[in-house]
Amino acid sequence: MRNICVVGTGYVGLTTGVCFSDLGNTVNCIEINPEKLELLRSGKSPIYEPGLSELQERNMRSGRLRFTDDYAFAMAEASLIFITVGTPMGDDGAADLSQVKAAARSIGQHLTRRAIIIDKSTVPVGTGDMVGTIIAEHARPDIEFAVVSNPEFLREGSAVSDFFHPDRIVLGSTNRAAAEEVAELHEPLGAQVIITDLRTAEMIKYASNAFLATRISFINEIAQICERLGADVKEVARGMGADKRIGPHFLDAGIGYGGSCFPKDVLALHHMAASAGCHPQLLQAVMDINQDARNRFVTKLRKLLGEDLNGRMIGVLGLSFKPNTDDMREAPSVDIIRALQHAGARVKAYDPVAIERAAEYIPEVTFCATAYDVAKEADALLLITEWNEFKQLNWEKIKSFMRTPNILDGRNLYDPEEMRERGFTYWGVGRGNYQPTVGE
Ligand code: UDX
Repeated sequence: MRNICVVGTGYVGLTTGVCFSDLGNTVNCIEINPEKLELLRSGKSPIYEPGLSELQERNMRSGRLRFTDDYAFAMAEASLIFITVGTPMGDDGAADLSQVKAAARSIGQHLTRRAIIIDKSTVPVGTGDMVGTIIAEHARPDIEFAVVSNPEFLREGSAVSDFFHPDRIVLGSTNRAAAEEVAELHEPLGAQVIITDLRTAEMIKYASNAFLATRISFINEIAQICERLGADVKEVARGMGADKRIGPHFLDAGIGYGGSCFPKDVLALHHMAASAGCHPQLLQAVMDINQDARNRFVTKLRKLLGEDLNGRMIGVLGLSFKPNTDDMREAPSVDIIRALQHAGARVKAYDPVAIERAAEYIPEVTFCATAYDVAKEADALLLITEWNEFKQLNWEKIKSFMRTPNILDGRNLYDPEEMRERGFTYWGVGRGNYQPTVGE
């Protein structure tokens, strides 16, 4: 069993700390925000992530998991130190590395024993080398350390299960022995381990996220073509996905990707490439198509209700960027709702968990307690996030509440035929018999 220090308790840091403590390691997590620290110390999780708070509580009780703002205390016995601080999008599209640099400085200043510093934050290629330089500048020259890049692939909403069942563990370092030591820590997970150099490991993370984002933009482009030509994108994706070389995942057409990773990482990779003198044409198209998917959804509503949305009542189901999370970062709902409000529409919305966070982004929305309240007096209902509880609604009730039974399904959650039989005017994204006039 190892003694581990985790610097930063965002999604990645908290999941990493909690799950490694559950595997029997002693883990000290550093959080410098006093309010967040107090919350964590009281056994509560600052984020909504299924299964995480139960594990946090259990491992805190066992004494293996602690939260502190004291580097000296947290690092005293640690042989493995994870950097999991945020790398938000900077103004120029490049990742903002101020938190990573600050963490490296503090780690250097408090290093009292041999340790491996493991970078899990998504950082531009070359950052691992920079972290090593900063630590060396601040650490006692007699203390040995190595830097390993260990990109994290967990998804919000299934972070705990992703941690325990990873597809692969990527470790990059100039120091092979250090990478192998980190591989040992992951042994109980039984996953394939890929050991490579530092910069390649950093690139694997960007390339993976950019590829997944590309699949989404690809299928959204196909959806647009399907609308014009009278084909059904859901069936097209099913047919494509059966090919082993293609696979069925990340081919759901809709209103595009959001969240704290894809938008930021595709832009950061584009920025890195451009700074290195490359001309990344595909990445630019991926971003443009993604923005377009949101715009086209609003255009579609105009086709449904008429150009003038002034005074119209629009009901929104789902606000978070995807189900099973309360994360609103880069959520398509924000752009869509702002566009509707800009056009003079009144917006009511319901989300199972994200309302509190959503109010910070879109305060002028009337937030409702149920999906049925959203339907009341609505001229159209917009399905934005495909939460499970929206799969089976009482459609008779919804229809009787609405002013006009119009449904725009941004995630292709419903069957077009069934919705029409229930008496709704129903439009999905890229679904066959939808009039090919949108966007003209
Ligand atoms: C993603 C990566 O999957 C993960 O490996 C990485 O570590 C962080 O970024 P996450 O942002 O939590 O994880 O969400 P993910 O489930 O990948 O979905 C991202 C976005 O793409 C969501 O907005 C989702 O609605 C959208 N999406 C996903 C689609 O529009 N269509 C799809 O087929 C799949």
